[in-house]
Formats: sequence, structure tokens, C-alpha cells
Amino acid sequence: MPSATRYSMITKMFHWLTALLILVIIPLGVVANQLPYDTSEQLARKATVFSLHKTLGVAVFFVALLRILWALTQTKPGTLHPERKIETFLAEVVHWVLYISLVAVPLTGWIEHAASSGFAPIWWPYGQNLPLIPKSESLAGVFAGLHWIFGKLMVASILLHIAGALKHHIIDKDVTLVRMWFKSGSVPDVGPHVAKKGAPITAALAFVAAAGGAVALGLTQRHDDAVAVADLAEVTSDWTVQDGSIAITITQFGSEVTGTFADWTSQISFDPATADIMGSVETVIAIGSLSLGSVTSEALGVDYFDAQTHPTATFSAEIQPDGTQFIADGTLTIKDVTVPVQMPFTLTLEGETAQMSGGLTLDRLDFGMGETQNDESTLAFAVDVAVTVLATRASETSE
Ligand code: HEM
Ligand code: HEM
Repeated sequence: MPSATRYSMITKMFHWLTALLILVIIPLGVVANQLPYDTSEQLARKATVFSLHKTLGVAVFFVALLRILWALTQTKPGTLHPERKIETFLAEVVHWVLYISLVAVPLTGWIEHAASSGFAPIWWPYGQNLPLIPKSESLAGVFAGLHWIFGKLMVASILLHIAGALKHHIIDKDVTLVRMWFKSGSVPDVGPHVAKKGAPITAALAFVAAAGGAVALGLTQRHDDAVAVADLAEVTSDWTVQDGSIAITITQFGSEVTGTFADWTSQISFDPATADIMGSVETVIAIGSLSLGSVTSEALGVDYFDAQTHPTATFSAEIQPDGTQFIADGTLTIKDVTVPVQMPFTLTLEGETAQMSGGLTLDRLDFGMGETQNDESTLAFAVDVAVTVLATRASETSE
């Protein structure tokens, strides 16, 4: 039976299990954040520490939910020093902050994770997404800021909590710590705990203030080291691009991350009536316009696209028939490295409108990208490119 004198065995087990997990998870988070990732080995190590942090964090989230449900069914022992009003109130506020943070800290971390793409996975078979949470860098930024500040609030209250427990044990020499331990011996009957209404409200306000602080300090905004996007010259050609997309897909830690270049131009000549070389295409891509989930700034950095030094990439090719399809046979120049490439594509012609769709797979090492990341399980060598273009034929004579 639950007694008002002591904590039940299950309460104690929940307390010390969560305490242990939390005291492991916090240093893992701090270390993971600080680890360098310049080489393949370093990135793999960083990802492992992050995966461990996240997996234990998700575990503690579920343990915390069970713990809270359990606590709701329990009558817990009252304070040993009811006359110390301020101290008792502070202890209770800290308990509330700890309970709230046991849910709020892992949940904000989890939402940040689910909103990001390009990440160290949670080691479990239930997927990496959360319902209702879209992939969005700005949303990930908001929750990263909240995870950080709530984590700090949690750390501060754990320090106060431990200091309080030690003060009771060492200075007051009372049984506060002993009665939370497994062998508590005989403890005085102080009657059941009398909840103070102001304590949960004060704790909740601490979270509101922390969230406000995170916004005010700009912690909820992702700072990308903005790379200048090349101003592409306007082009005119036989065919005018109306719409389209150039997407790349990389594979990091076994998960695919897809991104697109927002700015590019294409000069296209194409005559379906010709038999052999049907035309040509020259596409210039503003590398700085790439958005690639949470790894955009890495991708644009010196080790990969080096967008600052090499602001554009160029694809020029001749268009040839290839059975029922077509092939764009030419070269791709990225970072001043020119590689011969062939891109098969399909074409649907309707009157003066053409819709093409094609793709190819590149090897990033051919372009000297990420040479220090030479382990495929961290970052695959293959990069898939998918291209769609909707173009209309420019009429030579207007009626
Ligand atoms: C109670 C559980 C958790 C605690 C106490 C905790 C605490 C922390 C701490 C202290 C940091 C480092 C912040 C700093 O550098 O000072 C951190 C970072 C991080 N945590 Fe957690 N965490 C928890 C659960 C989770 C979970 C469940 C996930 C994801 C599934 C997660 C994802 C992250 C991420 C992605 C970062 C890096 C933040 C960034 O983008 O800068 N955490 N966490
Ligand atoms: C080594 C570190 C820790 C020590 C020595 C410790 C000690 C204690 C003690 C003595 C109590 C009973 C207080 C009382 O009866 O008034 C307590 C309660 C509590 N502790 Fe800890 N604790 C530690 C770590 C943690 C951590 C890391 C968390 C959670 C993040 C936590 C959450 C709680 C909560 C929520 C209560 C209130 C339980 C309740 O009354 O329902 N503790 N702790």
C-alpha cells in the first residue's frame, strides 16, 4: 500500500532510473555538439554520440510519461521541515520544473530531429519522423533553441535539486535523501505531502520565461553562413524555360536528403524533326541557391561545392535520340572540374510545349567533393540528380 511516510519502491526505481539516464544524456548532448566533423571518422563518431543521445532521450521520454502517470496515483510523504516555508516552496518548484523538463526537453529535441533532414538517426525501428511535424529548417531552428534553453533550465534545477538533497543530508542531517534511497530504514511519520498551488504555476512560468528568452536571444533562428548567390545573366534561346527543377539527393548515415537549386538558366535548341544531333542545351546553375536540409551550409562549404570560390556550375550537352528516349551527352563542370556525363531523359511534346524529365547519378569524388569523408556509410559517394524542365518554343514570327 502507498504510505504517506515513505516513497514506494516503484517511485524510487523511477526516480533513480530517470536520474541515471538524465545524468548520462546531458554530457552526451554537450559532447556531441562540440565534437569536430572534419574527417569521415570524426563525423561517424559525432553521429554515434548524437544517436546515443537521441535514443536514450526518447527512452527517457517514455519512462518519464510512465513515471508521471505513476506519481499521480501516489500519496507521497510530506516535508520534514514544514516551518521552512520558502525552502519547501523552492524544493517543490524545482520538482515541478524537473517533471516538466522530463517531458519538454526530450520532446523539443525530438521535434527538432523530426523537422530536420540529414541527421544522426534514433536507433530504433519506428522511423525518424513525427506526425504533424513537416521537414522544415525554420521549425527545426525553433525547436533547437527551445531544446537548448529548456536543457539549461533542467541542468540548473538538477544542480539546485542535488544541492538541496546534499544540504539535507550533510548540514541538516535529516532523512530527506535516505527516504528516497532503497534501504530507508525507519523514517519519521510526517503525514502526507500537502501540495502548494503556486509551485506548478511558478514552474510553468519558468518555462514560458525560458521560451521567451530563447526567442529574444535569437536562439530559435538558424544562422546559415549565407553564401552569396551568383546573379545569373538572362538567356534567350529557341526554347524558353517556364518551369522546372534541378534536385540532388545525397545519402547520409543511410538516409536520403534531397535538395534543390533555386536559380539556374537553360539555353535550349531542339528540333524534333532532325534525326541525329537534335539540338543542344547549356544550363548554368547558381550553386549558392542550393537548399539541402540541415546540411546546406556544409554542402556549400569549402570541402564540397565551395560556392564562394566557384559560384556556378555548367552543364552543356548535345541532344541525341536514344531509342524511344533521348540523351543529353556532354560535360558537367563543378568547381572547375569538367567530367563527361550522359543524362537520359524522356520528352513529351504537345504543340509548342515540351516537358522533359531525366536524371543521372554522379560520383562526388569525381569532382573532389568531401575527399576527407571517404566512408560511404557516413556519406555515400553517389549523388542522384533529377531534372525536370517545362519549356515552350519561342515563336519567331508573332502574328
Ligand atoms: C531528457 C532528455 C534530453 C536531454 C536532457 C537533452 C539535453 C541536451 C543537451 C544538454 C544538449 C546540448 C546543448 C548544448 O550544447 O549545451 C542537447 C543537444 C541536442 N539534443 Fe538533446 N536532450 C535530450 C533528449 C533529446 C532527444 C530525445 C533528441 C532527439 C530525438 C535530442 C536531440 C538533440 C539535438 C539534435 C541536439 C543538438 C542541438 C543543436 O541543434 O544544436 N535530445 N540535448
Ligand atoms: C544524483 C542526483 C539526485 C539526487 C541526490 C536526488 C535526490 C532526491 C531526493 C532526496 C528526493 C526526495 C525529495 C523529498 O522527499 O522532498 C528527490 C525527489 C525528486 N527528484 Fe531527485 N535526485 C537526483 C536527481 C534527480 C534528477 C536527475 C531528476 C530528474 C530530472 C530528479 C527528479 C526528482 C523529482 C521529480 C522528485 C520529486 C519526486 C516526487 O516527490 O514526486 N532527481 N530527489
